[in-house]
Amino acid sequence: MSFKLFYEGNTYALEDNKSVLDTLLDQGIDIPHSCKSGVCQSCLVEVVSGTPGQASQTGLKATYKAKNYAMACCLYAQDDLAIRRLSAKESAVTASIVKIEALNHNVLRLCVKLGEPFDVIPGQYLTLITAEGLARSYSIANLPAVDGYIELHIRVLDNGRLSSWLLNQARPWMEVQLRGPAGECFYVADDDGSKDFPMVLAGTSTGLAPLYGIVRDALYQGHQGSIDLFHGALQAEDLYLMDDLQALSQQYEQFSYIPCVLKGIEGDFYTVGDIQQLVTDHIADKKDAHVYLCGAPELVNSLKTKIFLAGIASKHIYHDAFLPSK
Ligand code: FES
Repeated sequence: MSFKLFYEGNTYALEDNKSVLDTLLDQGIDIPHSCKSGVCQSCLVEVVSGTPGQASQTGLKATYKAKNYAMACCLYAQDDLAIRRLSAKESAVTASIVKIEALNHNVLRLCVKLGEPFDVIPGQYLTLITAEGLARSYSIANLPAVDGYIELHIRVLDNGRLSSWLLNQARPWMEVQLRGPAGECFYVADDDGSKDFPMVLAGTSTGLAPLYGIVRDALYQGHQGSIDLFHGALQAEDLYLMDDLQALSQQYEQFSYIPCVLKGIEGDFYTVGDIQQLVTDHIADKKDAHVYLCGAPELVNSLKTKIFLAGIASKHIYHDAFLPSK
């Protein structure tokens, strides 16, 4: 059975098993989107009539659900649908760029300041939307409530549209929109309120961003247990924030920073080895650890399984897989 989609005065056929987002993109209609997996919320639309379905609203704030907002990439026909594109201002807040700088040869630091209150937790992610409607999701890498701005780490991709925009067009004090935040990967005390459990965090590339935010948040909240952060890369030049993390490890005895690379020379400031093996070995005697994993989906999914099999309770494994998007 085929249903209809009504959008901006036009009618389209909705095929079975094809999302509203794909239906519109196939028609050459440019709808903001990024992950196409129901994670980033950059494809939000309002369902004016018809049934949104549970999948298209999973993870949305209660206020968004109440307004019948839905993620177009997870929106499938159960009946005829009429949808409306949201203006950025309807579901986002305005922020100004305050700093763009290189952290290494392929990672940029973007700092933005908000003109209004915006509740975020370090480690969550939000969607950055440019004036041109380009939308991408990034994790919060700092303590916004303390620093007074939000810091994001953006990997420069070949032909990456957002990173090209940042390198070529973005300038300080330019306005962007922020949507979100979302995500459950952040620091929380144990069920009984205690803060003395060991923490182990592991990530590759800009997976460091949420982990850095979580480490700073845990220290700020007075975490008393050990905090061990593994940052993995192919080679040393792909690591970043080394000075900041080494300084943090000197300031806090409980915090250890373990940079590791697959290709390198033993004896330098990093460890040479596979991050998955290093982390799995490390947690062998830390069964009560809370483990945080961020980075490429293959790494996160594989490490999640290994850590669970090594004896870490699944409720203590927090993870956030980044879906590549250009
Ligand atoms: S593109 Fe739909 S949630 Fe990311």
